Amino acid sequence: MTFDFIEKRPGPGDRLVWFPFADNDDFNPSWWNHRSFYGESSYTLLEVHSDGVEVARIELDSDVAIDHYVGTPQLGDTALEIQLIEVAASQRRRGVGTKIMQALVARHPERRLLAFSEEADDFWASLGWARYDHPEGPRFSRPLFIQTAAGA
Ligand SMILES: CC(C)(COP(=O)(O)OP(=O)(O)OC[C@H]1O[C@@H](n2cnc3c(N)ncnc32)[C@H](O)[C@@H]1OP(=O)(O)O)[C@@H](O)C(=O)NCCC(=O)NCCS
Repeated sequence: MTFDFIEKRPGPGDRLVWFPFADNDDFNPSWWNHRSFYGESSYTLLEVHSDGVEVARIELDSDVAIDHYVGTPQLGDTALEIQLIEVAASQRRRGVGTKIMQALVARHPERRLLAFSEEADDFWASLGWARYDHPEGPRFSRPLFIQTAAGA
């Protein structure tokens, strides 16, 4: 399975808000419908295709803070957060998310990918990523999963 990662960018007519993705019932519209231009933005939106079909959407963020979690490594500017990944509802539990994450890691060899898990702990753990918890515990703060370092 191979993937095309298409970076979404606002057009010249997009000023206050823009609509990065086309309507697609396979994705949650409230997560992806629009973005505003208010304030500085450090995010990147990706539309992921396989054989011409949209199979996932990803939001990356390079402005990451993880020091408030217990025992985290010093990642500095190498940290790259997956703010959100959504695999098309009709494509889930077929290994698509896993293969996309492998491809994303390969696209960013100098970075360490990480995610604050929103009810997807089993998925992030299945990738072999290391889990870190907030000092107050997982009841109040989402667990953090960090990509294993190359060669580790
Ligand atoms: C989380 C998500 C990206 C996983 O994508 P996917 O393509 O379905 O994942 P995979 O098929 O590669 O799953 C790999 C493994 O992760 C675990 N896993 C994935 N989805 C799971 C679920 N709903 N419940 C329990 N374990 C799950 C399983 O161990 C699975 O292996 P298995 O199918 O052999 O048991 C997808 O379910 C999704 O888009 N969910 C809605 C959005 C979301 O929750 N995003 C994450 C926010 S942090």
